[in-house]
Amino acid sequence: ELDRRVLEVNPKVVAWRRDLHEHPELGMQEFRTAALVAAHLRGLGLEVREKVGGTGVVGILRGGKPGKVVALRADMDGLPVTEQVDLPFRSRVRAQWNGQEVGVMHACGHDNHVAILMGTAEVLAGMRAQVPGTVVFLFQPAEEGPGGAEPMIRAGVLDDPKVDAIFGLHVWPGPAGDVMVRGGPTMAAGNGLNIIVRGRQTHGAAPWGGVDPIVTGAQIVLALQTVVSRNINITRLPAIVTVAQFNAGIRSNIIPDSAVLVGTIRTFGREQRAEVLAAVERIATQVAASAGATAEVRLDAGYPVTANDEALTARMRGSIERAVGAEHVQVAPLITGSEDFSYFQERVPGV
Ligand code: NI
Repeated sequence: ELDRRVLEVNPKVVAWRRDLHEHPELGMQEFRTAALVAAHLRGLGLEVREKVGGTGVVGILRGGKPGKVVALRADMDGLPVTEQVDLPFRSRVRAQWNGQEVGVMHACGHDNHVAILMGTAEVLAGMRAQVPGTVVFLFQPAEEGPGGAEPMIRAGVLDDPKVDAIFGLHVWPGPAGDVMVRGGPTMAAGNGLNIIVRGRQTHGAAPWGGVDPIVTGAQIVLALQTVVSRNINITRLPAIVTVAQFNAGIRSNIIPDSAVLVGTIRTFGREQRAEVLAAVERIATQVAASAGATAEVRLDAGYPVTANDEALTARMRGSIERAVGAEHVQVAPLITGSEDFSYFQERVPGV
């Protein structure tokens, strides 16, 4: 019956997805998307909560049989990207972002996630009497930043009703119809890296009169390459330290006062994350000290590791194989992107 109902709802899922794709909204501005979702869930007879943790929407389906509480999550936000693909449902939406006018696009596929979860709600609502337990549908804002999972958790979405397990999915380019799943650490923790190197300004023709933050900053960039290659046990889990911006100076003959290095750090475990952050801090400050400069290291808190509960993953594998065929189920590789689904998993077992 599930299969039959899924087939029946599928054309609607495609239509919703195309409509959402044509009307993407940036994080915490998902007003149209949230209204569409809320109206759909109400139409199915679900208990609906709106404006949860910002623009989030929660739908609660109480099944006809006793059982556990399972949450299913979809993220709703688009990205400040101009769509360059010529499709009848391509986005022409523009918006303000960081003080600039930008195109907006569902460039990460969250339009799919919303449409799939709307379809799932319709299928399960149609067979409510046979559903054991309760299903909580979480439509989350701002996964791409500043994060919508945490504010939804603070608003109590895992507490009322008390969620026993949570599931999410992300579309990915690859063989259509295949499913990738992995137990344990799966997507990286991300930390923003910001280093201000302070020296002392001097004439470019008289470097001995100051402390050069550009040479010192360059040494720090090179020394940071040893964090992963010399400090971390890479046989356990990989890690990444990237410096992506180096800003310093305004003129060819002035050595400036300071240089700013900006980058990102990716790790796959709590302990590993602490080790990497400590090594970055130690190397940056002490290389600067060796030059008579100083380095102020700021590490922005990013999303934690997305770690799938091993037991729950093993238990779900059979269901996934029954749904798509064992030959279409693969073990996912480690992904160095990060996801705020991780916050839900820090509270309840999740896959
Ligand atoms: Ni995404």
